[in-house]
Amino acid sequence: MYDPKEIAQEAVKAKSKGLPKYSNFHVGAALLTKNGKIYHGANIENSSYGLTICAERTAAFQAVLEGERNFTAIAIASDAEDFLPPCGACRQVLLELCGKELEVVMVNHKNEIKKFSLKDLLPFSFGEEHLR
Ligand code: THU
Repeated sequence: MYDPKEIAQEAVKAKSKGLPKYSNFHVGAALLTKNGKIYHGANIENSSYGLTICAERTAAFQAVLEGERNFTAIAIASDAEDFLPPCGACRQVLLELCGKELEVVMVNHKNEIKKFSLKDLLPFSFGEEHLR
């Protein structure tokens, strides 16, 4: 078991680590491994706008580079008042690296929380099983 509120607060902290130079819209992510480690992520933008990378993917790539392969949940916080759902590209990458059982915790400005399973956010998805 894990505390969604705890990783939500980590995602809020992670927001300030990014470089949203063009949009000035900060997004933070906190990815929790099965053994309790938390990896921060934040959005990093590029003057060639399409090369921008989202908070969720920076967290996942950082964790994978550290050798992590088993994940419980990811929390996402942003400058928006409302809950920020992960974009489609991040859903696909999280599915690949963290699996469909990953819990996705969103936190809004009032510190309220919404939780989903990744499989509900990306149903009927393409994945490694289609390449066998
Ligand atoms: N962004 C994220 O970091 N995660 C998402 O799931 C949605 C969008 C970032 C990308 C860009 O830096 C900014 O938010 C505006 O799109």
